Amino acid sequence: MKAVVYHGLGDVRLDNVPEPRIKTQEDAIVRITASAICGTDLHFVRGTVPGTKPGTILGHEALGIVEEVGKQVRNFRRGDRVIIPSTVGCGRCNYCRAGYFSQCNNANPAGPMGGTVFFGGPVSNGGLDGLQAEYARVPYAAVTLLKLPEAIDDDNAILMSDILPTSYMAAVMAEIQPSNTVAIFGCGPVGQLAIACAQHLGAGRVFAIDAVPSRLAVAREHGAEVINYNEEDPVEALRSLTGGSGPDRVIDAVGIDAGTAASGPAKPSRATAKAFAAELEAIAPKLSKSYKPGGAPSQALRWAVESVAKGGTVSVIGVYPLTMNSFPIGLVMNRNLTVRAGNCDHRRYMPEMIELVRSGTIRPAEWITQKEPMQSAIDAYQNFAAHDAGWVKVKLEPGALERIA
Ligand SMILES: NC(=O)c1ccc[n+]([C@@H]2O[C@H](COP(=O)([O-])OP(=O)(O)OC[C@H]3O[C@@H](n4cnc5c(N)ncnc54)[C@H](O)[C@@H]3O)[C@@H](O)[C@H]2O)c1
Ligand SMILES: [Zn+2]
Ligand SMILES: [Zn+2]
Repeated sequence: MKAVVYHGLGDVRLDNVPEPRIKTQEDAIVRITASAICGTDLHFVRGTVPGTKPGTILGHEALGIVEEVGKQVRNFRRGDRVIIPSTVGCGRCNYCRAGYFSQCNNANPAGPMGGTVFFGGPVSNGGLDGLQAEYARVPYAAVTLLKLPEAIDDDNAILMSDILPTSYMAAVMAEIQPSNTVAIFGCGPVGQLAIACAQHLGAGRVFAIDAVPSRLAVAREHGAEVINYNEEDPVEALRSLTGGSGPDRVIDAVGIDAGTAASGPAKPSRATAKAFAAELEAIAPKLSKSYKPGGAPSQALRWAVESVAKGGTVSVIGVYPLTMNSFPIGLVMNRNLTVRAGNCDHRRYMPEMIELVRSGTIRPAEWITQKEPMQSAIDAYQNFAAHDAGWVKVKLEPGALERIA
């Protein structure tokens, strides 16, 4: 089958690989009908989140049709149309049963402290093969998979695998109350859907910050008040738009590949730029040359903490590697801030997301800007990584590929 395979920093290829097989009786094999590329995949390819083994199939977003199930999978059968959440949990440990599927005690072969398990990621995240492929093996399938109602088509379903539950959890972690002012750093897919989720939770005003004009335009179309950090200092702009207080809730939907202002009043001093370079060197000594990292690892976090109102909440859904340790704790402490962060517990939010989409409350298909066959996957990685104008979210369509024997 065809699959997107990680070969090393900056090196992803569309390869012919063997089809997956059932390994345990709790597995299922799913034929993938839609997949996607996430900002998290870019961190692996850039090298800012290290540890993916060459040969790993990438991708953690997909839906498809069940091909085969192990004997212990009693709730699905061949032919069922299913959504595959990005993270894998066993469903029976105390963490899964409390909704912390990303902190499952059993899914990681390294044991309870091993870390979140998701498809197509670093060895420390379970090292599972991913979902940018024609077929995938799904562990703990009885718990991981969910049936998709017919009323939700593939275009509306694909963002439910990761982006919608992630953005929703970001909004929940931000503790948004009706009428609150909310600022969202990053207008990639996660930031865009976080705007929709903040609105759904009743936010009074939503501000969106980025430097990519076409992404800011999408945010504005969905009702956000936009700030371009290459033109304005986002911390100052947020203060002036909120009567001096700053927004009540702030979401970091950027992560380790944060950039900083290239122009305008927020452009960092030489000393600050040097400090960012040192941060990058410390967290990721080896980087891809072709897929450029953001270059200012703590910038989005710093702006988030600096801009939030006293007593406010900062929600960190952007991904940071274990090696990241610069964080403005002094401001957090002195302004009585709450900080919440984490990998998404996809499975916990999925039933609620199915209802949100089935009811038409949120229509995720609105944020898909490209639909590409698998043959174009590598080009799509490059366009998405470069934030090319008009590229917000790409859906990959493995079904559009002719089977290769
Ligand atoms: N915690 C989770 O479970 C989870 C799940 C999915 C994605 N994520 C993470 O969410 C983040 C966003 O994902 P995405 O797919 O939207 O990625 P993306 O790379 O498409 O979007 C990131 C956006 O942030 C913007 N940006 C860069 N620096 C900025 C700054 N200093 N201030 C404001 N904006 C800035 C970029 O221009 C870009 O538009 C990534 O870190 C990804 O790994 C986390
Ligand atoms: Zn993701
Ligand atoms: Zn578990």
